[in-house]
Amino acid sequence: MKKIKIKGIRTEALKPKEFIEEKIRELKEAVEDGLAINALSGGVDSSVVTALGHRALGKQLKTYFIDNGIMRENEPRKVAAIFKGLGIPITIVDARADFFKALKGVADPEEKREAITQTFYRNVFGRLVKKSGARSLLQGTILTDVEETAAGIKRQHNVFEQLGIDPQKEFGYRILEPLVQIRKDGVRKVGRALGLPASVFNRIPFPGPALAARVIGEVTPEKIRLVRKATSITEEELGSVKAFQYMAILHEDRVTGMRSGKRRFGFQIEIRCWDSVDARIAKPTRLSWQKLESLAGRVVEEIPEVVSVTYNIGTKPPSTIEAV
Ligand code: XMP
Repeated sequence: MKKIKIKGIRTEALKPKEFIEEKIRELKEAVEDGLAINALSGGVDSSVVTALGHRALGKQLKTYFIDNGIMRENEPRKVAAIFKGLGIPITIVDARADFFKALKGVADPEEKREAITQTFYRNVFGRLVKKSGARSLLQGTILTDVEETAAGIKRQHNVFEQLGIDPQKEFGYRILEPLVQIRKDGVRKVGRALGLPASVFNRIPFPGPALAARVIGEVTPEKIRLVRKATSITEEELGSVKAFQYMAILHEDRVTGMRSGKRRFGFQIEIRCWDSVDARIAKPTRLSWQKLESLAGRVVEEIPEVVSVTYNIGTKPPSTIEAV
């Protein structure tokens, strides 16, 4: 394991107001009168970095939301509207075709993740970084990301290494990671102090590979449409349950069912709902039978292609939280 040189700040010791003031000073000093850019995904870390960065840099920071086509229902529009309401303009980049092209014919979980990472960094964001003329790039890297990368659990998170670029040497770019001393619960504290709505800083975790992590086998626009609909229903039905995370997964295998009195070979949706503190270990939430019935009822009623709904009662380990 590589040694980490970052001086972490414990969440209990974190004073959000002072932290924000210090990071504003540091960002202003680093960017001077230049231009910085960042990518907002709607997740907690990138949302907090966006709010913090705009407070420090104002118009000198340009924020892009890359619509990869595998997000939840209306996500790009919803996230951009929230930030617009906070006085932060977001440019949505339609990259759906790039991602679906990269995912075509790919069924292996790791290859799927790799296709998404490469499309994001090399094609879409890479182009924006080069075109923008920005000299600084803001990233929402947190301490846990650095630790997990050092331990070999996570893929490399450094954007420039992903681009195959030594930023300093090639462009004089610098990468700014204002959240790198804190962890997720610290990030939520900072998000609250920045005035972000709780619906942003308290969101349930959602994976970087988005709904592609919830389609078993090849990802197609049609399969994303089905799992997206099931995800909306699941989030609506389980939103009031105090669980760590909940999700719908679209299976590759189909099963025989019945629709309008005819046999139909239809899709299967698996529901997972987890109790966990930090995602390292997790147990299925003991949902009431009533809750499960109403959820399953809505899924088969609102998605005619689906004929079967299951609830996963495995634990992590040996399962993981996501299916892919
Ligand atoms: P697993 O599936 O590894 O998930 O038990 C643990 C937690 O991490 C989230 N997760 C990801 N988050 N990129 C992310 O940003 C990813 O590739 C990824 N894979 C899993 C997962 O949702 C859970 O909260």
